Amino acid sequence: MPKVYIETYGCQMNVADSETVASILAKSGYELTDNMHTADVVLVNTCSVRENAETRVYGRLAVFRQLRKANPDVIVGVLGCMAERVKENLITKQGVDLVAGPDSYRTLPELLSKTSSGGKAIDVELSTEETYAGICPTRLESNGISGFVSITRGCNNFCTYCIVPYTRGRERSRDPKDIITEALDLQSRGYKELTLLGQNVNSYAFNETRHETRDTRHETQNPIPDTRNLTPDTWSFPRLLEEVALAVPGMRIRFTTSHPKDMSDETLRVIARNSNICRHIHLPVQSGSNRILKLMNRKYDRDWYLSRIRMIREVLPDCGITTDVFCGFPSETDDDHQDSLALMKEVRFDFAFMFKYSERPGTYAADHLPDDVDEEVKSARLQEIISLQGEIGLASNRSDIGKVFDVLAEGTSKKSKVQLYGRNQQNKVIVFPMEDKKPGDIVRVVVTDCTGATLKGDRV
Ligand code: 5AD
Ligand code: SF4
Repeated sequence: MPKVYIETYGCQMNVADSETVASILAKSGYELTDNMHTADVVLVNTCSVRENAETRVYGRLAVFRQLRKANPDVIVGVLGCMAERVKENLITKQGVDLVAGPDSYRTLPELLSKTSSGGKAIDVELSTEETYAGICPTRLESNGISGFVSITRGCNNFCTYCIVPYTRGRERSRDPKDIITEALDLQSRGYKELTLLGQNVNSYAFNETRHETRDTRHETQNPIPDTRNLTPDTWSFPRLLEEVALAVPGMRIRFTTSHPKDMSDETLRVIARNSNICRHIHLPVQSGSNRILKLMNRKYDRDWYLSRIRMIREVLPDCGITTDVFCGFPSETDDDHQDSLALMKEVRFDFAFMFKYSERPGTYAADHLPDDVDEEVKSARLQEIISLQGEIGLASNRSDIGKVFDVLAEGTSKKSKVQLYGRNQQNKVIVFPMEDKKPGDIVRVVVTDCTGATLKGDRV
């Protein structure tokens, strides 16, 4: 059996996609390996969201070219967003053998057979329908405790800075039957937690007869009202979330990523009445400035975002709230930046992913909005954002001292063999004494101490 090695970069969607790829290849006679030196096929699943994500992959491709010096027969393939964005240049300029975009994975066996006779193969066709229905992912790199289930593919939002709608294509919602089958499969394998994944999970809409492929690209300046027809037999996100929670009552359910414009009260109520849905919402704000939010085509303003936060706190008082925020978007002034800092102070996020704007070729911003914030200014603003969030995150952790949480143990602490680490529902990492417990157990822990990054606790 030929051996295939898969390396994954980028978001959790890519991890889930690599599992789909592994399943497709296993079915057509490939054996998975985690040793690239003995592999016949080396695949790298890639991310294009910021330039530095691509730079890392180019570095890996150089390593794979070295690998080929030792074994000229090895086939190197690029999958995912970079495959979709860079296309045949990966073959002509980087010397790879195979390029497959996010909707082409079913054709991988054929593509690979083309390359086995020394040829090159490329398929970067995007689909409006492919959801990998009927393929049960092969779990990779997993701790056997928490797994992913993708519920939507693609994105229709066309935020002006973002490459994802171009690399992953139109939004499609997967059949709820497949989603629940995958949840049950994880449960039967002993998994304790699953994360429902999508670029924008809360716009999930599945109708047996109608498939949504609406392209909102031209709505940038003139939002068209959402015409989605949510009939009683349509599955909305809150309905799906609740059905999954009920189907696997012994598992914890998480979901990511939510778009603020689609964050419904109904979803919050579903979380409130299902104790196995984690009290954690990741709600990327991106900027605190109304002017910048408009230029980003985020379709909400600061007040809308803050009203969503108030609603979360009202319905789910103990909910962890995290975000993505980035500085240096075209034309961002110091006032705009101050608006972002002020919003962070007002919301007090428990955690944030923080970035500098990175211009992505082909996006609306790259074509229409000059990348005009100096690199030093971007760096200085990012530093301010990071240090503010550092203070807020530490204060958030300190306020947990004395509280008791149910923690799902995920593994042995790196620093001590007699300590376990895990996460509470709010998604904070807690380290605590192992005693008679093991990874996979839910353990009651009282928080006794913290750093900016982790909570420390004792068994209750
Ligand atoms: N530059 C910087 N950050 C970006 N993100 C997406 N596109 C860009 C870009 N061009 C960030 C957003 C998004 C997260 C996944 O990555 O914050 O939520
Ligand atoms: Fe990109 Fe916006 Fe879609 Fe998120 S919602 S993937 S930021 S276009």
